[in-house]
Amino acid sequence: MAAIRETILKLERNGIAAVSQRGLGRRDIIPLWFGESDVVTPEFIRAGAKKALDDGRTFYTFARGITELREAIAAWTTKQTGRVLDVERVTVPGAAMMGVQIALQCVCEAGDNVVIVSPMWPNIFQAVRGLGAEPRFVRLKGGSGDQPWVLDLDQLFAACDRRTKAIFFASPSNPTGWIMREEEQRAVLDFARKRGIAIISDEVYTPIVFDVAAPSFAALADDDDDVFIVNSFSKAWAMTGWRVGWLVHPLKLRVQMAEMSAYNNTGATTFAQHGALTALRDGDEFVAFMREMSRKGRDIVQSFLQTQNRMSWSKPEGAFYGFIAIDGMTDSMAFAKRLIEEVKVGVAPGCAFGPAGDADNDRFIRICFAQSAALLEEALGRIAKVL
Ligand SMILES: Cc1ncc(COP(=O)(O)O)c(C=O)c1O
Repeated sequence: MAAIRETILKLERNGIAAVSQRGLGRRDIIPLWFGESDVVTPEFIRAGAKKALDDGRTFYTFARGITELREAIAAWTTKQTGRVLDVERVTVPGAAMMGVQIALQCVCEAGDNVVIVSPMWPNIFQAVRGLGAEPRFVRLKGGSGDQPWVLDLDQLFAACDRRTKAIFFASPSNPTGWIMREEEQRAVLDFARKRGIAIISDEVYTPIVFDVAAPSFAALADDDDDVFIVNSFSKAWAMTGWRVGWLVHPLKLRVQMAEMSAYNNTGATTFAQHGALTALRDGDEFVAFMREMSRKGRDIVQSFLQTQNRMSWSKPEGAFYGFIAIDGMTDSMAFAKRLIEEVKVGVAPGCAFGPAGDADNDRFIRICFAQSAALLEEALGRIAKVL
């Protein structure tokens, strides 16, 4: 008898890593495969963390996060949504992915299922699988040839059964840039309340939006609704390596959250939390800069696509990814590997963003366009050469 769980032995390879490990660290490759810009965390945020280090903040702290940071997050969310968020609903257990794990652990176990609106960043559904639960995919419709991405609510509700413990959204979406509308959130919340299903809403890209605001479930959910909202400093404050984010959770879990955070991560890194506090206090201008940089990246890709006859997208409404359909391509993994070999550009293959063998996703590649213009234009030109 072997000790390791079958679920773990059978965990699928992450499709983005399968490509990136071919060229990670190689200076001759333009990397557009990960969800991060080429901007270093700004000086004032680094100074906040450096000061904390110099002040000796190198010890354990509250498992739910330092109080000033939790208060600042509650105030930030209140400002974004216009609805007061109780600080007791905020926990800082580590970065967003830690929040995802904790939210999933709170609601599901082996044999349950989580309905996921896809295409979706693979770490989310692999985390569901890691718990022994089943990810069920409801794919947005549209997405190429200028067709907008559309959620079919009837299809979403029909996918839920007695073992469904949560519905998972990422809005703005990685990889599509789709933004869930408030009417859709209301309809889902209504359904979830009736059926006793939790909602996990990943809102890490809400500050990076272009044409419409991305509504938050925090504006709709009551204190004790089974709603979890995941957020992060990684993207909008350019802090991917810091591993700090937050979870908004039902008020009734305020005690358990200290335990969940402690048992998963012994809490988030103390001095990194002080950097995050500085980011929230003084970072509005920087967030606006990230949004504008992303918007410029989106414009560059949009102009480029107009010159191409085999490539199209649904112009993203938020986040900083282009999920680009390529006519005639049926194997996105092979294509992504070819781009590395032939023109030294790193992209994420569409097949990574849903169930294995899904032909719909295999027509796409994902690029991160939050890059400096010259780099992005060079990369797009190289992709065009291969086509
Ligand atoms: C939708 C989504 N959620 C969560 C994360 C992870 O965020 P963090 O770096 O805070 O763990 C990412 C990163 O790409 C993401 O795209």
